[in-house]
Amino acid sequence: MTHITAINGSPRKHGNTDAVLDAFLLGSKSTGATTSKISLGDIDHKNCRGCNACHKKGVCILRDDLTPVFDEVLASDILVLASPIYSMTITAEMKSLIDRGQFLWAQKYITKTLTFPKEHLAKHIGVYLGTSGQNIPHIFDAAFPVVRALFNDTGFSYTENVLFPGMDQYGGVKGWPESVAAAKTEGKRIASLICHAGY
Ligand SMILES: Cc1cc2nc3c(=O)[nH]c(=O)nc-3n(C[C@H](O)[C@H](O)[C@H](O)COP(=O)(O)O)c2cc1C
Repeated sequence: MTHITAINGSPRKHGNTDAVLDAFLLGSKSTGATTSKISLGDIDHKNCRGCNACHKKGVCILRDDLTPVFDEVLASDILVLASPIYSMTITAEMKSLIDRGQFLWAQKYITKTLTFPKEHLAKHIGVYLGTSGQNIPHIFDAAFPVVRALFNDTGFSYTENVLFPGMDQYGGVKGWPESVAAAKTEGKRIASLICHAGY
């Protein structure tokens, strides 16, 4: 069965990102997929200290509520990283998660204890779900390479963006119900990619 882990980097509970993410997961569940949602704002965790201890054994010396999140991510078929645009890029919460994934980068490139064969990458999809206030071209451009870093380190093919720019003009998601409907449709479509399309 397809399992989807979704991580919300917005600190705002029941905000724009939370609403479209919930709709995305609802659509995914309609295919029979199982889902779990982690809100980084609810998790007690530290930022990467840059100690580079992970370069020796590929293990992060920090042990906190984020530690099991990486286990869950690695056991998922689809990883959704959801973040609104704050100051032209992802939130500090999402960046903190991605920095803490450095131990996996170390496993791939230094200790060489982690590899993702082509067959694995073909069956694991990375999705960035973003919202922004402004509706201007390229508003998500600074988010894409940052989320890609974690997809690469966790073995997901980053092939899907689900984007809702211009929340300001609607006064947020409540004034733009079509965004919620579209997120649900996208959740169903993307979960079906694993179930049906030769993945
Ligand atoms: C601190 C902060 C910074 C923001 N910076 C931007 C920005 O640079 N560009 C933009 O388009 N929207 C910006 N926004 C608006 C949010 O991206 C937008 O309202 C988003 O949908 C909020 O999602 P949330 O309700 O899940 O937090 C910012 C919002 C906050 C709170």
